[in-house]
Amino acid sequence: MKATARAHPNIALVKYWGKRDERLILPHTGSFSVTLDGLFAETTVAFDDGPDRGELDGKPFSEKELARVKILLDAIRARAGLRGGARVVSRSNFPTAAGLASSAAGFAALALAASKAAGLPTEAKPVSILARLGSGSACRSIEGGYCEWLRGERADGDDSYAIQRFPASHWPELRLLAAECAQEAKAVSSRDAMRTTVETSPYYAGWITDATAELPRVNALVAARDLDGLGQLAERNAWRMHATSLAANPPICFLRPATLAVIERAAALRRDGVRAYFTLDAGPNPVVLCDAKDAPRVESALREAGALKVTTCAPGPDAKLLDAHLF
Ligand code: PMV
Repeated sequence: MKATARAHPNIALVKYWGKRDERLILPHTGSFSVTLDGLFAETTVAFDDGPDRGELDGKPFSEKELARVKILLDAIRARAGLRGGARVVSRSNFPTAAGLASSAAGFAALALAASKAAGLPTEAKPVSILARLGSGSACRSIEGGYCEWLRGERADGDDSYAIQRFPASHWPELRLLAAECAQEAKAVSSRDAMRTTVETSPYYAGWITDATAELPRVNALVAARDLDGLGQLAERNAWRMHATSLAANPPICFLRPATLAVIERAAALRRDGVRAYFTLDAGPNPVVLCDAKDAPRVESALREAGALKVTTCAPGPDAKLLDAHLF
């Protein structure tokens, strides 16, 4: 009844931005991401007679964290016919400092470890569906490489999960540089920001139409390993996501001055002949796409522009079960 798994974060190139079902975490649109190597979360789960409890990076879960973990555990217990509780210990090798959300990797590792510990199937599809219940973007961290989260149509969410479109080996020279621009906690969580945006932004309907139309294009550009085409698509999708939130009521702006400086530096690099393009999640820290041969130059340029820390990643592997447990 105990298992451990490792999963990697992912960065979306066509973003998930808005739920059509808040409880089951069903999106209004599909989305597309790259799983990142180097960074990972590891989680051990043991089902027992105690209450649900656990820790994240050495600290007991906050009430909010435990509530989200419980949603996933409840779904697993319901499917496996289990009673009782579980102990969960999770740690990541990028304690916020990479400027990337660790929730996707954490919930992906939790979904895989808990499925195994409960005796449920550990194939990608059912585990992706479970990971989605913890954090939407986590469903795209079950498999490595380039993954698409299918929107699905069903009310029960059973057709809303991620599939691998291309393995990491399809385009191993792509580099994704996470540029940390601000360390303070975000004023608004991505969860609250997307809800406010769906409910109040006059541009949200346009977002749905546009993001949906970008999905076949992002697949074709990755198939062709077209860095300029993919970079342009990633930039316009990020700007359009942020435009929907800037137009919400109250307005939501995740950009900090250093964010804009890094984004402008990517454009300056292009004027100098270096192909570098940004994307930006619901926070101040851009991720810059470039080719492996340019990564050292891009990394120092981003630092010069004001990034506090730059973490260079390549396309990463599938989530996997580990033999060594954390307790
Ligand atoms: O999975 P959540 O609730 O952390 O939302 C993630 C939303 C974005 O990171 C902004 C976009 C995405 O597709 O990952």
